[in-house]
Amino acid sequence: MADEREPWALILGASSGFGEATALALAADGYNIAGVHLDRRSGMAHVEELRSRIAALGREALFFNVNAADDEQRSRVIESLRERFSRSGEAGHHAYVRVLLHSLAFGTLKPFLAADPGDAITRKNMEMTLDVMAHSLVYWTQDLVRAGFIEAGSHIYAMTSEGSSRVVGSYGAVSAAKSALESHCRQLAMELARRGIGASCNAIRAGVTVTHALMQIPERDELMDVARRRNPSGRLTTTDDVARAIVTLSREGTDWMTGNILGIDGGEFITG
Ligand SMILES: NC(=O)c1ccc[n+]([C@@H]2O[C@H](COP(=O)([O-])OP(=O)(O)OC[C@H]3O[C@@H](n4cnc5c(N)ncnc54)[C@H](O)[C@@H]3O)[C@@H](O)[C@H]2O)c1
Repeated sequence: MADEREPWALILGASSGFGEATALALAADGYNIAGVHLDRRSGMAHVEELRSRIAALGREALFFNVNAADDEQRSRVIESLRERFSRSGEAGHHAYVRVLLHSLAFGTLKPFLAADPGDAITRKNMEMTLDVMAHSLVYWTQDLVRAGFIEAGSHIYAMTSEGSSRVVGSYGAVSAAKSALESHCRQLAMELARRGIGASCNAIRAGVTVTHALMQIPERDELMDVARRRNPSGRLTTTDDVARAIVTLSREGTDWMTGNILGIDGGEFITG
């Protein structure tokens, strides 16, 4: 039977990379988009262009330039969604968050040990990286469940990487965040099921992909060379590879698929 509800995608990290590509792909598949991002004024022209592209697909785009790891700002976004969803309710439509994508890149890329202590990771760096790139998933999910926006058929995804189980010089704090993020996905999958909510939660392990975040990693050239050599298709992953997979996975019939780490990498991981 057709799902008559009004599907929304809430994308954390919507202005760039995987988040941007997935926002566009889901809009093309009939979703309204709520996008959370953190951009300076110089990045806002790009966000406006993205909003226009979503509008041109006939979908609504609500964008929030806020820190996704800030409790008050998260509450304000949820409140705005509540107001928007209740307008749908008044018009006789039932809006809900069908897709929540956690795609935040905001980590400190420093080694744990360095000759000059100023070059090494600090407690503040570590805590901020873990908070944004891992723990924020839990707090957003808590609030969305409490608000009643996550329902049967909702899908939660969080972007992880091979860094959860492999080491790269400057990537220690992000590696820790990826391990924690995968653990949070398993825990949320179990708790959502036990509470009978009918929503799934999976981590998506993308292959190495050219994005703004990748270009910040000091070892990026080596990472890209190794990925091209290892990947059985001989190319890097693209943001569209991942966006298309999320669109397909979020259609009917995948509710029982939960608690996994899904490789969307053309087989890059298994050839490592
Ligand atoms: N690029 C890769 O090769 C690769 C591979 C696997 C996984 N990932 C993961 O995918 C996720 C997305 O990365 P990307 O490569 O698309 O990066 P990106 O830099 O292109 O996009 C990051 C997005 O996060 C937003 N953002 C960052 N900090 C924020 C904050 N505190 N509050 C709100 N928004 C914030 C930015 O505004 C932007 O929209 C990251 O978790 C990254 O680790 C990337």
